[in-house]
Amino acid sequence: MPENRPSPAWRLRRKDDVASTQFHEVAETLRAETREMHRALRSLIEELDAVDWYAQRIDASDDAELAAVLAHNRDEEKEHACMVLEWIRRHDVKFDEFLRRFLFSDGPIAKDEGESVNGDSRRSSRENGSLCIGSLRAEEVEAR
Ligand SMILES: [Fe+2]
Repeated sequence: MPENRPSPAWRLRRKDDVASTQFHEVAETLRAETREMHRALRSLIEELDAVDWYAQRIDASDDAELAAVLAHNRDEEKEHACMVLEWIRRHDVKFDEFLRRFLFSDGPIAKDEGESVNGDSRRSSRENGSLCIGSLRAEEVEAR
């Protein structure tokens, strides 16, 4: 077979070629940790999509028993999402930092980083030049 000819469709794919992965770069150029994190992030997205789908099906269903089953399934997807989020937190220092900052906190979520969250005062995002969702949201609110 010529060297540049595409491999036959029936040929077994390599582990990182399967449809559950959607790399944006050639898999061989990615570190193993990046590939594993990609799998986790894709899984989190899929679990959250499932929660959304179930919620809509529950609303649309005219059968109370089916709606109850779907509600049970929706809540299991929430558990799955939390489990994979915890894996992500344990393997990504920034997710760990932000989850510790925002989860189970009180008060406004979209505060400027210079303001205190849980009594933890940080430099303003304007001072340190970082982009963060919190500061962008605050600027969106200011623009209105
Ligand atoms: Fe799930």
